Amino acid sequence: MNVIEAQNLSRIYRLKNGGEVKAVDNVNLLVPEGQFLTIIGASGSGKTTLLNLLGGLDKPTAGRIVVEGVDLSDLGEEALVRFRRKKVGFVFQAFNLIPTLTAVENVEAALAPTGMPKAERFERSMSLLELVGLKGQVDRLPVALSAGEQQRVAIARAFANEPQVLLLDEPTGNLDTVTGKEIMRLCHKASKERGQTVVAVTHAGYVKEYTDRLLYMKDGKFSNTVPEGELEEPVS
Ligand SMILES: Nc1ncnc2c1ncn2[C@@H]1O[C@H](COP(=O)(O)OP(=O)(O)OP(=O)(O)O)[C@@H](O)[C@H]1O
Ligand SMILES: [Mg+2]
Repeated sequence: MNVIEAQNLSRIYRLKNGGEVKAVDNVNLLVPEGQFLTIIGASGSGKTTLLNLLGGLDKPTAGRIVVEGVDLSDLGEEALVRFRRKKVGFVFQAFNLIPTLTAVENVEAALAPTGMPKAERFERSMSLLELVGLKGQVDRLPVALSAGEQQRVAIARAFANEPQVLLLDEPTGNLDTVTGKEIMRLCHKASKERGQTVVAVTHAGYVKEYTDRLLYMKDGKFSNTVPEGELEEPVS
């Protein structure tokens, strides 16, 4: 079964000067259940726009997105909120941690709407933070964490309610190559254990070792060739 289906999907930004940007340009994509898909593309190729569409955070200009058999265009705002809360885990490029909550509270916050007892939420959040290597930093506010550490909190948070679909926007963007590889390995392993379907987007070429399938994106379309000279090369 395909968990994600995108048909003739486009997102065009209209600019004030009358111009337009085809950030996602007539894309078709099928992601089967349990697949870990990585999309590599240079900055500006449309990766974040595509993820936001797949997660129901943005609406397409044209085309259709079906997630687990549900056409997102059939959902009203409230149903979309429920869909995102229940089905989708996001790691945003800008993390979006809540600045007034500690690391462990940020992870617990994702579990708050589930009705899980507080002690269980705390336990699960602690073990997720341990999994991403942040056992010693659970009581820190985001401001007291490095970018890479904030990213790992965001990853723990995305995993917290075991969503069927995980959307990872530059999950290794602020990490050195060694830590980045470790985080990708961990995301791959954790998603396999839980049978989750993952779409990760990045411009870090080295992540391709930790994925089931690789696509390249260029100018809002999928391309069969690596965008030339624009990808980060592994440094170790
Ligand atoms: N709100 C917006 N209004 C107009 N153009 C936009 C808007 N958001 C993104 N774009 C443009 O759409 C294109 C795709 O942007 P997007 O953020 O999806 O790229 P990306 O692949 O995620 O890049 P990066 O690797 O830098 O995060 C870019 O040309 C960008 O300038
Ligand atoms: Mg982006």
